Amino acid sequence: MSAKVLAFDVYGTLIDTHGVVTELETRLSASGKAAQAADFSRRWRDKQLEYSFRRGLMGAYVPFSQCTREALDFTDRALQTELRETDKDHLMEVYARLPAFPETAAALARLDRAGVRCVAFSNGTAAAVEGLLDQAGIRAHFEAVVSVDEVKRFKPDPAVYAHLRQRLEVDPGDTWLISSNPFDVIGARHAGLHAAWVRRSSEAPFDPWGIEPDMTVADLDALAERLG
Ligand code: 2OP
Repeated sequence: MSAKVLAFDVYGTLIDTHGVVTELETRLSASGKAAQAADFSRRWRDKQLEYSFRRGLMGAYVPFSQCTREALDFTDRALQTELRETDKDHLMEVYARLPAFPETAAALARLDRAGVRCVAFSNGTAAAVEGLLDQAGIRAHFEAVVSVDEVKRFKPDPAVYAHLRQRLEVDPGDTWLISSNPFDVIGARHAGLHAAWVRRSSEAPFDPWGIEPDMTVADLDALAERLG
């Protein structure tokens, strides 16, 4: 068994938040705006994260799913897409069963075989993350789900990375955050953890803060190759 523990970010790293685009196309067709589905999805995700950051600064924590729902309402208003409440309820249901990225299951299986300990570490509540990983067929690869809900703060508050370390009971030098979200990578490095950036698009920029990932990989296959 390896001493390393890999803590995987969930939304955007294991699970594809843009897996909702097809459903958005259907729901937006009523207002003749199906062509805006991909833009809607991006703006929804960006606003969801912005709401988590703002709530963190305000000390006004709510479950991440509330940030998601309020961001959906906002995006609908901003793009004047006139979604009905039933459409939005349905989109939230789809969000609870988003797909994993295609290489995820095989990469996690490879890490399993190499004896690497893996946990899921997310802004989502434990119940939401358990459900998501379960329906994507990858829950068995994780020894635990660690949620920011246990400390009622959002990433990248240092308290959430301290909580992760406490839950894992391993040396910070053996703890790796794996994330496609640069703000999460920087948060983990700032808190003294190792971090790998999953740069899913070769055009994705990293924040120029002078805090760099220990490792950059194109996907989870490449990660398993390096850390497995
Ligand atoms: C997660 O914590 C930040 O969306 C990201 O799963």
